Formats: sequence, structure tokens, C-alpha cells
Amino acid sequence: MEIITSVTTMQRWSREVHRQGQTVAFVPTMGYLHEGHLALIRAAQTAGDKVVVSLFVNPTQFGPQEDFAHYPRDRARDEALCRDADVAACFIPATEEMYAPDHQIYMEEPAAARLLEGAHRPGHFRGVLTVVAKLFGAVQPDVAVFGEKDAQQLWLVEKLVADLNFPVRIMAHPTVREPDGLAMSSRNKYLQPAQRERATCLYRALQVAAQKVAAGETRAAVVLESMQPVLATVPEARIDYVALVDPGTFRPLEQEVSTPCRAVLAVRIGSTRLIDTMLLSAGNET
Ligand code: PAJ
Repeated sequence: MEIITSVTTMQRWSREVHRQGQTVAFVPTMGYLHEGHLALIRAAQTAGDKVVVSLFVNPTQFGPQEDFAHYPRDRARDEALCRDADVAACFIPATEEMYAPDHQIYMEEPAAARLLEGAHRPGHFRGVLTVVAKLFGAVQPDVAVFGEKDAQQLWLVEKLVADLNFPVRIMAHPTVREPDGLAMSSRNKYLQPAQRERATCLYRALQVAAQKVAAGETRAAVVLESMQPVLATVPEARIDYVALVDPGTFRPLEQEVSTPCRAVLAVRIGSTRLIDTMLLSAGNET
């Protein structure tokens, strides 16, 4: 496995793969890899000839009060996991390699990036879209795999590629969960054991919403209200948002829901902020 730290080396490596008639499948990450990331890597193996994984904690997507400094990092373990997963190259640029002192161009967020996650994390998606565009420029992938867990991010990346004509196919991967339903996340590490148990309230609330919609409920308010008692069982849970969105536009649905619709929520358990999502379908849909 190649360890690549410079953008030009990464571009040269990718050019050589393409020159040999092979394709590059890319999994961008911020490292501290877990089974969710590894599932994306396995999906990438099926989608392209050579898999590239980036490990880069992107400073521009963290707000000033957020956990950039404390975000968990374990480069040696990440490299070993990538090697075991048959990754062809790990792209691990230093912050200065990605953001030179005179870096000036940033993506402008569309309205959909200022709702939900974007409303609670101002500038977050400006940083995500900028770094994803930069990573695509460095890695030159044919296909890139993103997780549905970060559904708004996935939607925006698909829009980025469509609107700016990036020659990359975006592949979505379903959320990978712990046996009790908690969506895997690098931030789960922050949870104390008792909080870890209670953190399943996000998944349980989504399941209740899914049952409502499957049973034919179409009033958004009723579906959203059905989730509240589940979240209320955890006294330290603080809801940032709970919403139903149109999967095509990511616009919140406030009246009638047409299905399938996507439930999204962000909840803080103590100081740990967790997000989760589920596609909700009426009973007769698959
Ligand atoms: P990170 O949180 O490390 O996630 C990297 C990729 O793994 C994302 O596409 C994310 O949706 C996916 N992922 C995380 N947990 C998952 C789970 N439980 N199941 C399935 N997929 C999961 O998302 C980022 O990094 C960054 O914003 C990034 C896109 C790398 C830009 O900096």
C-alpha cells in the first residue's frame, strides 16, 4: 500500500493507474476508521480497480467551538486497517498541503446547505464541499463512495458533482450500525458507558417513525411527534433538530409526507453530538 502525502504525487499515481486502463475508487474519510468506513472500502473494491482512502481531518468544516482539536486520530491503526482491507493507496496530506497560506477559493453553499446540519453548524458544508472538491482534484477518482448516515452531506456531494460537472460517479452506502442499532461514528468514542447505552434513542425514534409511515400515516407533525417520547426517555438528550425531508430536494416536509421520505435528526447526549437518518416508506413500498 502506498502512503501518499502530497497532492502532486497523488495526481501522478492516479494518472498512472488510468494510463494502465484501470479505474480509481475513492473513499474520503477523516480517519479513526470504524466498521462503517470499512464497509465503504469494501464497496469501493467492487466498484473500481484500485481503492484510495483519504485520511484528513478537515479544519474548514469545523466551527470555532467544535471538536477539531479533539477529533480522535490514530494514524497507525488507520493505516493498518487500510492495509488489511487491500487499499492500494492512502492519501494523508498535512493541513498545509491541502490549505496553503494563500488558499482563497471556497465553495458557496446552496440554500439546502444552510438547513438542518447547516443551520446548527454554520459554514460546515462550505468546508465539506471545498475539501471534497479538493480531494477529487487530488485523487481524480472514477467513483467515490459516501455513507447515507451523513445524508445531507451525500445529497450535497451529489449536487456538487452534477452542478460542477465532476467526472465522478457517487455511490451511496447504507448506514452501518452497532448490533443495538446505534449508527457507527468516530464520535461514539466520546460517549461514557451509560450514555452509550442511551444513545440508541436516535435509532429507536427512527424506527417508531418508520412504523408510523409504514402504517399509512402521512401527516408530518404526527410522525415527528411519535419520535418525541422515545427521545424524552433520555433526560440528557438535547435535540438539535428532528425533521422529515424530501429525499430528492432535501427540503423539509412540514405538512403531508409523500413517501419514501427521509427522517433526519441530530441529538446531543451530554456534549457528544450524534446524527442519524432513515428512509421511511409506506407499507407497500420496498
Ligand atoms: P467521516 O465522518 O470520517 O466519514 C467518512 C465517510 O464514511 C462518509 O461518507 C460517511 O458518511 C461515512 N460513514 C461514517 N459513518 C458511517 C456509518 N455508520 N455507516 C456508513 N457510512 C458511514 O464524512 C466525513 O468524514 C467528512 O465530512 C469528509 C466527507 C471526509 C470530508 O472531510
